[in-house]
Amino acid sequence: MKRVPSLTFDFKNMMTDQIGPVHGMGEEECARAFPLLDDVYRTFRESRNKGNLAFLDLPYQPTEKIKALAKKVQGRFENFVLLGIGGSALGPIAIQQALHSPYYNLLSKKERGGPRMFFLDNVDPTEVASLLEVLDPSKTAVNVVTKSGGTIETLAQFLIFQKWIYKKVGKEKGAAHFIVTTDPKKGTLREIAQKEGYATLEIPEPVGGRFSVLTPVGLFPAAVSGIDIDLMLQGAADLDQEFQKVPPHENAAVWGAFVHHWAYLIKRRNILVLMPYSEGLVGVAQWFVQLWAESLGKEKDISGKRISVGQTPVVAVGATDQHSQLQLYMEGPVDKTIQFLVVGSFGKDLPFPTVRSDTPIGLLAGHTLGSLLKIEQRAIEASLVESGRPNCKLIVPEINPYYLGALFYFFEFQTAFAGKLYGINPFDQPGVEAGKRIIHKLLKEEGQNRTKETSKRR
Ligand code: PA5
Repeated sequence: MKRVPSLTFDFKNMMTDQIGPVHGMGEEECARAFPLLDDVYRTFRESRNKGNLAFLDLPYQPTEKIKALAKKVQGRFENFVLLGIGGSALGPIAIQQALHSPYYNLLSKKERGGPRMFFLDNVDPTEVASLLEVLDPSKTAVNVVTKSGGTIETLAQFLIFQKWIYKKVGKEKGAAHFIVTTDPKKGTLREIAQKEGYATLEIPEPVGGRFSVLTPVGLFPAAVSGIDIDLMLQGAADLDQEFQKVPPHENAAVWGAFVHHWAYLIKRRNILVLMPYSEGLVGVAQWFVQLWAESLGKEKDISGKRISVGQTPVVAVGATDQHSQLQLYMEGPVDKTIQFLVVGSFGKDLPFPTVRSDTPIGLLAGHTLGSLLKIEQRAIEASLVESGRPNCKLIVPEINPYYLGALFYFFEFQTAFAGKLYGINPFDQPGVEAGKRIIHKLLKEEGQNRTKETSKRR
């Protein structure tokens, strides 16, 4: 395997010479950005040196504790259930989808090498109850993931699973079924873990939920399912080293941040459509949606001025959504940039048998499923250019732990850098917190009413 990270960000189809001056960026405009990028990059580096961009140093963390705990779980349990929501679930799901077969849980134990993997990132009673119906509690490990340690959805899932496991194996033996991934010091889940004697893994204090995929949040379930997490971190570390060597105007993630910020600010393109042409990267696209939306969608800038900014990220899957959303993207308002997510080579491929025919089936002769999908992407890219529609692409050589680590790092870097360009804080989420407060208030009020009614009936 080639050990040099080479994620390529290609934005030529956002330039005037490809799509015309109305929607495109001129060469001079691009060149004019260099001093701005230098300036912003300087403050970005200063923030990193002050420890305010802790996620950038995650590639260099020790992994022994994560791997040792993962080995224990592998040896002892047949099922692994991750409980979490938002940044505490999207990253682990993305890793699983990218690096394992979609039918991983149907493989034999020997083929899998680890337990069957399940991810619950909601409190839908039908979904949760249905999972409990098919699993044996005595053979199930539960990884409760929450940075704050107090997210109500995760606590709710936890209570259901704790009762389910304790009922079957008893409280004493049940403790060995739980692994809590949370803040190193504080939070409800940390307190419960200490009291009940659960194994714990730490999410470094300054790293927030949506930037936590390269902490035990993503690394532990990955290791449990047999993924080489050191290789993931190596991919991220090599990209970091590469970024540190080059000036900002040669840094692909800096350009990723700049062109989308420019499209939003100058051309009023409010929507960013991320379109992976690989089922394995759909989870990464969904993870990116949270990262981009929650980090950059802000009412106030860092000085407190009301600016209400943020691009709306959307996932469209190639080729599926060519038959769904694409019509809108080709002919609807030019309020969006399409960013393709493309892989150099697929892990598996299937050639077509040759059928001699003048109908479309004959066109498949000499091709494979992979070459068809690649041609589809190139065709859509070309047709967008023909209609003067802005688009760009991020190319990943192949989907493996190394490049996946690099890809996560790339997008996190790009998002944090875009935060600097917008002049906002990409690491808080006051909107989400406001919702959480109201949920707590309603739970309290309605809980009290229910308790009163129950005691009246008695
Ligand atoms: O990015 C974030 O901070 C949020 O999306 C959180 O991940 C989400 O709200 C869940 O929070 P926690 O991990 O504290 O349970």
